[in-house]
Amino acid sequence: MATVLAIETSCDETAAAVVKKHHIFSSVVSSQIAIHQPYGGVVPEVASRRHVETMNETVAEAIAQSGLGWSEIDGVAATCAPGLVGSLLVGLTTAKTLAMLYDKPLIGVHHLEGHIYASYLEQPDLAPPFLCLLVSGGHTSLIAVRDCGQYETLGQTRDDAVGEAFDKVARLLGLGYPGGPAIDRLAREGNPQAFALPEGNISLPGGGYHPYDTSFSGLKTAVLRLTESLKAEGAPLPIADIAASFQETVARSLTRRVIRCALDQGFATIVVGGGVAANGALRSHLSAAASEKGLRVIFPRMDLCTDNAAMIACAASAHLSVGHHSPLDLGVKSRLAITDVMSLYQSGHP
Ligand code: KG4
Ligand code: ZN
Repeated sequence: MATVLAIETSCDETAAAVVKKHHIFSSVVSSQIAIHQPYGGVVPEVASRRHVETMNETVAEAIAQSGLGWSEIDGVAATCAPGLVGSLLVGLTTAKTLAMLYDKPLIGVHHLEGHIYASYLEQPDLAPPFLCLLVSGGHTSLIAVRDCGQYETLGQTRDDAVGEAFDKVARLLGLGYPGGPAIDRLAREGNPQAFALPEGNISLPGGGYHPYDTSFSGLKTAVLRLTESLKAEGAPLPIADIAASFQETVARSLTRRVIRCALDQGFATIVVGGGVAANGALRSHLSAAASEKGLRVIFPRMDLCTDNAAMIACAASAHLSVGHHSPLDLGVKSRLAITDVMSLYQSGHP
């Protein structure tokens, strides 16, 4: 199995890691949260500039902490899609430079494939086929994982990603950025049954609801209306109850869909990936529902749920081990369907 140095810069974390298959030699994450906080969200130009400033020290630290020399590293990887183009360019250009300098193969990695591979770091015996619930700031999908690089999208959000809904609701409640962890913390003090909110079902033309797709913009609007009407009453806003009710609704909605999908499609294992996989209510709802149905559910450990380079290195190690590598003229893409990851690779000797 290949040992890979990987770089992740798709959004607001500058990260580098050295991983061999499922073993993490080192994983360094330099967070930009404090820099973007005053703006209430990620400012793309600020993110790219900060990646440039922290890149060298982050990579150097990952290599130093791994205790390995370049002769023991088989390839250099970087997230190349999807994400903020300027940010992705910093990571991919660094990886290309190192690959050329040390004569190593380059492996471009799809960010969401990285989130799927985070669970391999948690459970090394994990093997496809399995169902993955991907819940991040930019994506919400149900993905059938057939093999390394072989994916099928079975369900998705029709509008906002779930992490985006967390961030928007948090802003509405005055909780700041990033919203997900803030809502998660506050919800522990609130009553999840305090307010009934819509789960975001998608009606089908012939009647009934889409079994796997969801919508979160209606839920977000319902929270907005609720806060407006409570404010109009003049009483202090019960923000812990609103946060808990919102989070409960999201967890129930996602759990219902992923369990139904696993049972319909015959998957015995469910893997959860992306920043929202860190959410307390989702973890407890889905674990309880899965054990009731005799399904195995895997959540990555907390620091591997949010963006990191260990998961990117793990995916790259799997690709490199079966002979996949990327051309040196590989570009970055703000959008790329996970079903198209094999477009990043060529086989044979680099
Ligand atoms: O995967 P990620 O780090 O970046 C993307 O690929 O988008 O996910 C970030 C998202 C943000 O929207 C953040 O608010 C959300 O994950 N998030 C959470 C929690 N931790 C992070 N959402 C709910 N509960 C959490 N504990
Ligand atoms: Zn992510």
